[in-house]
Amino acid sequence: MSDHLLIDRSQGVLTLTLNRADKKNALTREMYGDMGDAIAAAENDGSIRAIIIQGSADCFTSGNDVSDFIKNERTGTDSPVYRFLKAVCHASKPLIAAVNGPAVGIGTTMLLHCDLIYVAQNARLKMPFVNLGLCPEAGSSFLLPRLLGHPRAAELLLLGEEISGTRACDIGLANQALPAGQAVLDAARAAALRIAELPPSSVQLTKRLIRNGVSRTADEVMETEGEHFAQLLSGAEAKEALTAFMEKRKPVFN
Ligand code: COA
Repeated sequence: MSDHLLIDRSQGVLTLTLNRADKKNALTREMYGDMGDAIAAAENDGSIRAIIIQGSADCFTSGNDVSDFIKNERTGTDSPVYRFLKAVCHASKPLIAAVNGPAVGIGTTMLLHCDLIYVAQNARLKMPFVNLGLCPEAGSSFLLPRLLGHPRAAELLLLGEEISGTRACDIGLANQALPAGQAVLDAARAAALRIAELPPSSVQLTKRLIRNGVSRTADEVMETEGEHFAQLLSGAEAKEALTAFMEKRKPVFN
């Protein structure tokens, strides 16, 4: 178990806190594995009624660790990242996200699998897959247009446009935009505690009815995206984009 993920189980709520401040909570294989395992274990734990995924008061996550991308350590549907994605995609208990600061790549796509999303007004949501020579993941190529319509999904996925938490709320990607910091974490906790007091079977059935088969399709799309993603990750465009990030320079695509 990595100390880059803090796990708390109290008052009927499983809280996963990303804890790798020096790398802006970039997600490693170990962190994905620990998150996936904790969410999967909650499925069979009757004492857990809701799950919170959060970062710190100033950063959600900068997405997949770029040096893991460079090492190409992400492929295969049995890899830790896919274990995590499948766990969030099929979680029967409500998932609640608290987003402060940057939510890059999977930091935003994982939100598409959450049920309640609280963001800082100045949070920075971004899915720069194309910019990195990659393609959408986590079922986002299916979930995002369905949620926002094609033009907005294209703006976010083709251009890799960054949006604020306030804008994310305006377009229906989040529930509430709050002043940055503790207020966001508190709002997520308050929602989780409300859920924890509700009748659990009714909550879980309602979640399933609301998602109405979406998870099944998202899972299928995720597999297809994963194959393309793995292929692109080995390509020259991704290599240039990812190396440029690590070298703190602008990428050049010839
Ligand atoms: N993987 C690995 N390291 C990362 C990282 C990532 N996804 N994101 C940030 N870091 C590291 C930086 O390299 C830097 O390390 P250093 O101090 O050893 O140089 C440190 O975290 C701080 O990042 P920095 O970019 O200086 O912070 P910032 O506040 O200026 O910007 C972000 C924060 C999140 C906007 C910016 O780091 C970013 O855009 N990250 C890239 C995210 C990305 O492309 N993820 C993949 C998405 S698919």
